[in-house]
Amino acid sequence: MTDYHSRLAAHNDYITETAGKRPAFFIRTYGCQMNSRDSEKLMGMLLQLGYIQAESQETADLVLYNTCCVRESAENKIFGHLSRLKNIKETQRSDMIIAVGGCMSQQSEIADNIRTRHSYINIVFGTANRHRLPQFILTTMETGNQVIDIKEDEDLPELDSVPVTTRDYPHKAGVNIMYGCDNFCSFCIVPYVRGRERSRPETDILQEIEALAADGVKEIMLLGQNVNSYGKGMRTDFPTLLRQSNEVSGLERIRFMTSHPKDFSDELIFAMGECDKVCKSVHLPLQSGSTKVLTDMNRYYTQAEYLELTRRLQEAIPGIAITTDIIVGYPGETDEDFEATLDVVRQVRFASAFTFIYSKRSGTPAAKRTDTIPRQVANQRFEQLTATLYPIMDEINQCKIGKALPVMVEETRDTTCKGRTNDNTLVHFTTETTMPQPGEIIPVIVTTAKTFYVSGVLA
Ligand code: SAH
Ligand code: SF4
Ligand code: F3S
Repeated sequence: MTDYHSRLAAHNDYITETAGKRPAFFIRTYGCQMNSRDSEKLMGMLLQLGYIQAESQETADLVLYNTCCVRESAENKIFGHLSRLKNIKETQRSDMIIAVGGCMSQQSEIADNIRTRHSYINIVFGTANRHRLPQFILTTMETGNQVIDIKEDEDLPELDSVPVTTRDYPHKAGVNIMYGCDNFCSFCIVPYVRGRERSRPETDILQEIEALAADGVKEIMLLGQNVNSYGKGMRTDFPTLLRQSNEVSGLERIRFMTSHPKDFSDELIFAMGECDKVCKSVHLPLQSGSTKVLTDMNRYYTQAEYLELTRRLQEAIPGIAITTDIIVGYPGETDEDFEATLDVVRQVRFASAFTFIYSKRSGTPAAKRTDTIPRQVANQRFEQLTATLYPIMDEINQCKIGKALPVMVEETRDTTCKGRTNDNTLVHFTTETTMPQPGEIIPVIVTTAKTFYVSGVLA
């Protein structure tokens, strides 16, 4: 514990004695799994400091937004939520401390904007210094000043050793295997806000997985912006890490994201096929099916290479579900380019996909392009893309009707439960008799299928 940790913990004990209740925090998380895992770590830290979790932001003494900036819409949403929070603070909770951290606040324009226009926000911190939160909280409490600290060059040793009991789900957890990204896809802001690619030592990762498994975790998701390049510059690689993780007893399922197609080796395909805990699903962002657009995007693979990779995966791991991310309306995308994307969708038959309209991110190379696609054209392409994707997803799910699938239970409420199959199909099911526990794997007979999920009954 640093001096700041112990001083803030002592302060919180004092508040508890005088006010008769512990100070409470509320965290709202935006963005990807990486941010969700960061929030769990921040939560672990706040609990250690003597805070308790608030039921809502209205009742919290400390409200923390862990932000995303991957698309403009994400930022607009966060500012919308912040203005509501401002209203709560001004009308009911003048003593509320508001902290904004994560990817969006790492951008210096955003930090400047908050400095000049959002004085009700007490703390702004970035992605590399979140372990300093206790220091920021104390400083703003003691001085009443706004604290803005978005330094870029720190590692995060403290936060990687937070207690493993702090998780959103009891039975599953994300495990960071690397931070940052060096790929600089031309549209993407992540390398600018998350810094250079750094792989964690394999011993730290395996220790964390073992501790999670000992704490009841059945499923882990190995996390990184490009997990396939794990271990660069070290004496290990991602297939080795998968094989080592597969040995951890108590674990049932291993997933990973995200895989970059350019680094997906044959050795990784073998390892996936051989490791019994590694799930039969892979998230493999396509972005575009046009080789010309892929080159413009700095993705380093062609349409043919992507198709070849998915064919090899489908051959080596029968029944594998391939999911993807697709962007439409990238600058310069022609009708033919877009057709090439639809062509890949038809050939690969994605089990599911996140689809996006290109969003200009300032500071990225793509933002300088002037051959932008009119919004209306991008919207039309988006509609056409989902109209191609969804019937395929629907057909894939229809084929599951009548089958008894092993489902890992995720959530239960009254007699209805939610869970996922090994290939990551979302399954809703009902049970009249015993209520299964999260993490249990039970057979469910599929009775109906929809585009995004299937429903069934306990076998
Ligand atoms: N590291 C992952 C993706 C991280 S961002 C990978 O390499 O695939 C998640 C997804 O957001 C991306 O795959 C991309 O499809 C989308 N995305 C990123 N930047 C975007 C932008 N400027 N406009 C629209 N979508 C974007
Ligand atoms: Fe962004 Fe590309 Fe890195 Fe993914 S691999 S985070 S899309 S730059
Ligand atoms: Fe968003 Fe940052 Fe993740 S920009 S997608 S939260 S890495």
